[in-house]
Amino acid sequence: MNNKILSIHEVVPNVFRLVIEAPTIAKKARAGQFVILMSEEDGERLPFTLCDWDREKGTITLNILEVGLSTCRIGKMKSGDRLYSVSGPLGRPSTLTEGKCVFLGGGCYGIGAIYPLARELKNKGNKVITAVEGRTDYLLYMKEKLKEVSDQYYEITVLNPSGRTGKVKDIIEELLSQGEKIDLCYFMGCSFMMMKASEATRPHKIKTYVYLDSLMLDGTGMCGCCRVTVGGETKFACVDGPEFDGHQVDWDEFFLKKGYYFEEEVMVYQHHNCRRKRESQENGGRV
Ligand code: FES
Repeated sequence: MNNKILSIHEVVPNVFRLVIEAPTIAKKARAGQFVILMSEEDGERLPFTLCDWDREKGTITLNILEVGLSTCRIGKMKSGDRLYSVSGPLGRPSTLTEGKCVFLGGGCYGIGAIYPLARELKNKGNKVITAVEGRTDYLLYMKEKLKEVSDQYYEITVLNPSGRTGKVKDIIEELLSQGEKIDLCYFMGCSFMMMKASEATRPHKIKTYVYLDSLMLDGTGMCGCCRVTVGGETKFACVDGPEFDGHQVDWDEFFLKKGYYFEEEVMVYQHHNCRRKRESQENGGRV
């Protein structure tokens, strides 16, 4: 049967790795694609980038960042639970190149999501430089797996009492200033990171791909929910993307649209947490 959670665990605070039984999706999955998942029948439809898959076992792996009520509910699920639906693979696969020098940058959920892309690019004979960013060191994960598929691997954090601080864009700027010849860049994760990293590569005219995590409903180009503007044209992230040219994205519009329901999301999440606390107190500390 499909959609069974075979394993779930918190890899770092607020990031959950799920291995899900989904043989049809595993069979067709390609780097850069995503699935739309519903944890329950009346739940939200949430897009998640595929972080890995096993065609023989018929499983897919997702790293899910807990940012609101729906992702919090997924984080509370257990091995053996069944998700209401998992649709995919959706979106266009990543643009792959051969024999070039490529730079991959990942942050938050993108640290895990960039892994299959790094693996594919390495298999195609590219020199793979990977850089990951986080607020602090303990929020970084997948280190060993990313190192395995990278020729050079860098970590950078915003807070680091014992050393260097910064973001992915600082790593790429430094490498370029040292004369590293980078042909292509891919950035996945926090929107702000992708925008800043794209700004860093623009003066060097390096082709730069970003993965836009717009709000989505159907994931098939019908509802218009994931509309973005790229190069002055309207595109749908679910069917035209999620990979787009980072130098062509209308970032102001993208941030505005992503924030449309921010207040409602915070309110629902807080209401949920308050209710859980109250119920816990009524049950003598048990949730
Ligand atoms: Fe509906 Fe893309 S999610 S058009």
